[in-house]
Amino acid sequence: MFYEFQKIITSIVIVIIVVFGIAKLSNLIFETDKNVVAYKVEVVEKTANEEDVQPIDMAAFLAVGTVEHGKKVFKKCAACHSINEGGKNKIGPALWSVMLRNSGELSDYKYSKSLIEYNKKWTFGELNGFLLKPATWIKGNKMGFAGLKDEKDRASVILYLNESSNQPIPLP
Ligand code: HEC
Repeated sequence: MFYEFQKIITSIVIVIIVVFGIAKLSNLIFETDKNVVAYKVEVVEKTANEEDVQPIDMAAFLAVGTVEHGKKVFKKCAACHSINEGGKNKIGPALWSVMLRNSGELSDYKYSKSLIEYNKKWTFGELNGFLLKPATWIKGNKMGFAGLKDEKDRASVILYLNESSNQPIPLP
């Protein structure tokens, strides 16, 4: 009877040790996980940021603009960018055929590191985010331009950029 009792106590102690062991172990795993989680939060924030500026139906957004209006809006860009075919780099890179080009792709223009590292294609959505607030869309880029708050201005200049290309892409 006494031995039975001792066996039970011993089993309980073993169970407690095992449970604590697992708890400790999962703590360790959780610790290492924290880095991953912290990293994920960053990504999530970025996505939230993207959603802030483009929670939109791209087709409906672009329908607000016109190429003609975009040509006028581009006057704000023209101090720094050429847009004609064969145009030269100015303060900013030449923008002929910028649509679907990679960010920082022109070999004869000296981009900031952050624009090169961004390394995404200039799609309608990327241009929309960037032109709304260049400084926050790609942190550390050197385009000294506050952005285009007005939807019609932004949609229009994007349509104009798309037209100013060897191969305008079909609208969504
Ligand atoms: C004050 C000068 C300035 C103005 C104004 C300006 N930009 Fe820029 N832009 C730049 C510079 C400089 C860069 C290169 C940024 C870098 O390397 O970080 C750039 C980069 C870009 C890029 C990325 C091109 C590539 O090859 O990856 C696009 C697209 C762009 N600008 C569009 C525009 C549009 C559209 C406007 C007007 C609404 C505009 N910019 C107004 C200076 C300007």
